[in-house]
Amino acid sequence: MKIEVDLGTVQGSASRRAMLDLEELLATRLLVQGNSGSGKSHLLRRLLEQSAAHVQQLVIDPEGDFIGLAERYGHVVVDGNRSVADLECIAARVRQHRVSAVLNLEALEAEMQMRAAAVFLNALFDADRDHWFPMLVVVDEAQLFAPAVSGEVSEEARKASLGAMTNLMCRGRKRGLAGVIATQRLAKLAKNVAAEATNFLMGRTFLDIDMARAADLLGLERRQAEMFRELQRGHFLALGPAVSRRPVPVVVGPVETQARAATPLLTPLPNHPGEDARDLILAPVPAEAGRGIPERRVPATPPPSINQIFEQIVRDRPRDEPADEAPSLFANEDRERAYRGIAFEILSDPDAAFRPEAVLYQDFLVRCRIGKTGGAALPLPEFKIHLNAARAGVDPNAVDPGEWDRAITIARQIPDDLQAVYLILAGAALLAIACPSDADISRRCGHHSPGRARSRVGHLEKRDLVVMRTDMMGGRAVVLPDLGWESLPGHADGPAMGHPSGVAAE
Ligand SMILES: Nc1ncnc2c1ncn2[C@@H]1O[C@H](COP(=O)(O)OP(=O)(O)OP(=O)(O)O)[C@@H](O)[C@H]1O
Ligand SMILES: [Mg+2]
Repeated sequence: MKIEVDLGTVQGSASRRAMLDLEELLATRLLVQGNSGSGKSHLLRRLLEQSAAHVQQLVIDPEGDFIGLAERYGHVVVDGNRSVADLECIAARVRQHRVSAVLNLEALEAEMQMRAAAVFLNALFDADRDHWFPMLVVVDEAQLFAPAVSGEVSEEARKASLGAMTNLMCRGRKRGLAGVIATQRLAKLAKNVAAEATNFLMGRTFLDIDMARAADLLGLERRQAEMFRELQRGHFLALGPAVSRRPVPVVVGPVETQARAATPLLTPLPNHPGEDARDLILAPVPAEAGRGIPERRVPATPPPSINQIFEQIVRDRPRDEPADEAPSLFANEDRERAYRGIAFEILSDPDAAFRPEAVLYQDFLVRCRIGKTGGAALPLPEFKIHLNAARAGVDPNAVDPGEWDRAITIARQIPDDLQAVYLILAGAALLAIACPSDADISRRCGHHSPGRARSRVGHLEKRDLVVMRTDMMGGRAVVLPDLGWESLPGHADGPAMGHPSGVAAE
């Protein structure tokens, strides 16, 4: 007998139900994509509620959104904050006893969430063959567990979590595990994990990069994917063997259990007269409430400029001080920024970009010595990242160092030949100036081939590290989705303008 799950109605026809074939879903898996607030978690909840009586379920729940299923449908809530042995044992029991469960990871840091999810999923996967009963494994915010690129968590945690998600989606079917995964950003989800789903529910999507990925998965023309921009909350385009052979617009129906994190609603402010409000807030704090002052990140003081360093050397250095005794003027954390400043000053000479790296490295080491940065000589590979950052022409003293750090952290993961181009584009976006022309990019990279620059921009686009937007006037702007930065439009075919900080190219 065919068991169907009622997702809601087909848009434009309130009487036509949008049904999902549960057995087909078990064999073909589901991917839900939509930006924040598009209604993915609501949709997953609807699917879970409607199918709870027919199939065992396990929810990987990073936000504790699904624990409400326990009261109404009897899911066991498993707190993810446990030892590996505990999680493995509980996962095995879940399979053995065929009890639906929610793995609640809300109390854990990102890296621990990944580790706990990996342990639990692997234990479900490795269950005794006698316990391979069919089971929906629902993963909300799947990009957290199967990220497309490495991020701030350790490589080991990322590999473990990605491996478990890949197993779930690629090899789970034979063991009865059917992955249902939801993500805000398709471009941030590992491609091999997304590609294993053959059913899709696509919700409202704004970023071109996600739309392009969705169009690829669904086999649509890019411009057809434009319709994802217009979708309302709770509206999804459904496609796949378990839903419909042709794309059908679905309006997801109501749910019975509550999400804990609802969209914030404006509520009237309480009416406290002035004095009352002051007393309420500034009343003496009870002694037992003293929990210490929360730690706050103090913005790093900018490193001294080269001129300041020279002045300091002249002031402080006794005439007969031996040259090789070079006490450091920098605390460790400032040294990194000092390196950045020195590299920037070197590349402020317009011809410097064309000099061989080895020559620039020697110049850098000499300046470090003069500047008394202290510490061991910076190794060449580390120098290269500072050099590439300097090619962007971003004066490290003129921008928020924390923001520029974010771009440099991403650039560290990018192959050498693309790193400089990424940082040049990121620099324009950070400074909110026009996107540099291909000629400009090539010049700053130290060569004369705009074609080569263009092809590297293309490689960065393929890796979803940048998105190039063309406006009505033919101007090209760069968007950096991971950083949330966008440059102004510039002319891709324009001449080389030189250093964006105002230093002329010639
Ligand atoms: N079909 C629907 N009918 C009624 N309300 C809905 C529907 N879909 C979503 N909502 C409501 O819209 C809000 C946002 O939905 P939801 O939390 O599911 O979004 P989301 O895509 O999971 O967002 P995020 O990625 O930020 O978690 C919620 O308050 C939810 O109750
Ligand atoms: Mg959600």
